[in-house]
Amino acid sequence: MNTNRLSDKIQNMLNNQVAKEAEAAQVFLSYGCWADSQGYGGIANFFFRHVGEERDHMMKVMQYIMERGGKVKITAIKAPPEDPTSLKDCFEKTFQHEVDNTTAIYEIVNLAHEERDWATYNFAQWFVKEQIEEEKLVMDLLDKLKIAGGDNATSESLFNLDRFIGESPDDVPLARDASMDKPE
Ligand code: FEO
Repeated sequence: MNTNRLSDKIQNMLNNQVAKEAEAAQVFLSYGCWADSQGYGGIANFFFRHVGEERDHMMKVMQYIMERGGKVKITAIKAPPEDPTSLKDCFEKTFQHEVDNTTAIYEIVNLAHEERDWATYNFAQWFVKEQIEEEKLVMDLLDKLKIAGGDNATSESLFNLDRFIGESPDDVPLARDASMDKPE
């Protein structure tokens, strides 16, 4: 008896997502090592913490495939890209990486909707919300770098920025939780 509750198309897409999340972890691991090599210990710490989040995402998708009676396929992942050329480049590439991942999540949502696979549609909503947070987290990095002076930032402002990012929480407030008493 076939107990796999996932279509082949959904299963393939979810397996691709497992690889994508693992790949994101490798990319951020490499960015963390790059940041550390440039003397930005706080920013390296941020990326290393983010590696754990990406691996948690990978685990969630993997567990979901198994929970639905599907078959997980663990594949090779691409090597991380070249090192960033500057902090701005690093944060911009990180942002683009998150946007690309959001697109991949939306593809899963679209297909689940098309197939009326409401279980996968429901599961994917967690990732839709998570991607809002992930994108916001990196937008904040870009904003902070801009305020610090961008490519023309002084050593002192970079020192403070690095410390600030290293100590920043991983969770960001979302609009859905805002109120007049607590705008953010
Ligand atoms: Fe798993 Fe940063 O998205």
